Amino acid sequence: MRVLVTGGAGFIGSHLVDRFLQEGFQVRVLDSLLRKVHPHGRPAYLPAGIEFIHGDVTDRETLRKALQGVDVVSHQAAYQDYMPEFSHFLQVNAVSTALIYELIVQYQLPVKKVIVASSQAVYGEGQYACPQDGFILPQPRSQQQLAWGDWEVSCPQCGRKATPVPLQEEHNNPYNQYAVSKLAGEKAALGLGWLHGIPTVALRYSITQGVRQSLYNHYSGICRIFFSRAMQRRPLIIYEDGRQTRDFVHVQDVVDANMLVLEKDAANFHTFNVGSGNPTTVIDYANAVLRKLPSAAGVQITGEYRRGDNRHSVSSIHKLTQLGWRARRDLSTIMDDFLAWIESIGGVPEQIADADAHMRNAGVVLSVS
Ligand SMILES: NC(=O)c1ccc[n+]([C@@H]2O[C@H](COP(=O)([O-])OP(=O)(O)OC[C@H]3O[C@@H](n4cnc5c(N)ncnc54)[C@H](O)[C@@H]3O)[C@@H](O)[C@H]2O)c1
Repeated sequence: MRVLVTGGAGFIGSHLVDRFLQEGFQVRVLDSLLRKVHPHGRPAYLPAGIEFIHGDVTDRETLRKALQGVDVVSHQAAYQDYMPEFSHFLQVNAVSTALIYELIVQYQLPVKKVIVASSQAVYGEGQYACPQDGFILPQPRSQQQLAWGDWEVSCPQCGRKATPVPLQEEHNNPYNQYAVSKLAGEKAALGLGWLHGIPTVALRYSITQGVRQSLYNHYSGICRIFFSRAMQRRPLIIYEDGRQTRDFVHVQDVVDANMLVLEKDAANFHTFNVGSGNPTTVIDYANAVLRKLPSAAGVQITGEYRRGDNRHSVSSIHKLTQLGWRARRDLSTIMDDFLAWIESIGGVPEQIADADAHMRNAGVVLSVS
């Protein structure tokens, strides 16, 4: 069996590459080695025994060649950032997914399964219960609300504060264009897969963490930002009040989920969340980092917020658990693995720009008035 892993030089893709090799697959990687993810070119962790195509997943001829003789497609390549390149998210993430199917259909390629990486981001501000009006899919909090430092989500009908509920696969409510592009990719994949009889699964990953996550991409979040500041003995900056919740999943649990849905026909034409199922507040996360690095400078709640942040994002993992998967590594393991890796590479590289300063300059970080 031959597998094509798009984005196989990246964080999640490279762990999938390792697992596919262990499982006896011939592995082909298509990756553009995006500079903001790989400023030093092809990463050393990519094994020698793979076929590597350096190219863009939106380039028709490159993708056509990459799909030749492939049994399984694992589509991980994506453009991710906080920056306002609205059209580029759709251009890369949605177009590449549709192109995979276009080429499979046009050249009648005998692909047996396609697994696409989607994201918890498709839920937008998520799913809430209002004590009066029941289930709601709210809009993002308004700039006016955030400028007042009023953080929790209110029911749009009655104005009462609403309670977050675990994110269920049947709903989506994206607002930012990365999220829209991931939903478009997912819909293209599941719809085209169904119409053309190409078994397809979409996996909506929660915040995935672990060894090899890009240290350079500003998007790649809390773990890298908090640990690098803690190691530099700088305070961990907390936006809002720190009580916003997230869910964090270990990259090896994500790999396990991919392998499970590959093997199970019952997964075909379905979307699954892949997360921990456990809410962690940002302040609890920061305190966990400080327990790992007690000499750090503590936390700082700056009275600021980020435009476009969701208040609560915790996925239900019931559907994937029913298929036989569970998250086997907890947050402490995620942090231990990340820290051991950072220490093994000699610490966070000096030249890494401060994500906070970068977002501040870009107007993403705003102050409560
Ligand atoms: N890491 C997370 O927390 C997370 C959460 C939800 C969803 N996802 C999704 O998982 C997938 C993998 O994410 P990751 O964290 O490993 O990201 P990553 O940035 O580490 O890896 C993505 C890889 O895709 C490559 N790439 C980007 N644009 C490309 C293009 N046009 N053509 C070819 N290659 C291209 C990059 O060079 C990189 O190697 C993505 O689809 C992402 O949207 C990730």
